[in-house]
Amino acid sequence: MKNTVTLNDRTFKVMIPAEEIDRAVSAVAEQINRDYADKQTPLFLGVLNGSFMFMSDLMKKIDFNCELSFVKLASYEGTCSTGEVSCLIGLNNEIRGRHVIVVEDIVDTGRSIAHMLEELKKHNAASVEVCTLFFKPASYSQPYPIRYRAMEIGNEFIVGYGLDYDQLGRNLKDVYVVTE
Ligand code: IMP
Ligand code: MG
Repeated sequence: MKNTVTLNDRTFKVMIPAEEIDRAVSAVAEQINRDYADKQTPLFLGVLNGSFMFMSDLMKKIDFNCELSFVKLASYEGTCSTGEVSCLIGLNNEIRGRHVIVVEDIVDTGRSIAHMLEELKKHNAASVEVCTLFFKPASYSQPYPIRYRAMEIGNEFIVGYGLDYDQLGRNLKDVYVVTE
């Protein structure tokens, strides 16, 4: 593991090693396995691009029959929220009557996930829950409960394990935090 990485103009230092992420993913998978054991073929819906690595590791720890798909939604440029959310792309699955688990890399202010949940409402799922790798409780300002949170962090900006800074850093297996 490298202690620091430089992505464009910013330097990041290691914050959460891969082993710790793995333990958090296992713990959240256990919760989901317990809660969905008796549900009919749940659908995991990953939000691209950030959730791809988390989705992959999470799915390997899920022990019931399930389906998986991805949708896309973008709200960020650089380290600051633009406050804009674009629409949902790729929702081809029949959602009606399904138990849907939305898989996110990170829930920050919650604007993206709120938009996603509003869109999903139109499709009459049997249930919709959110599973996020990272949650920023001090920043979150939406009424929707975020049921599964693998890890909670402060308001710091992080990269790695799917999360990017200007599209860079998604490939890192550890999570890094920006240094001022
Ligand atoms: P929200 O709409 O403010 O909750 O932001 C959600 C999106 O912003 C996430 O899906 C990420 O793409 C991005 N984001 C928020 N915080 C971070 C961070 O610390 N690092 C990288 N991306 C972030
Ligand atoms: Mg994202």
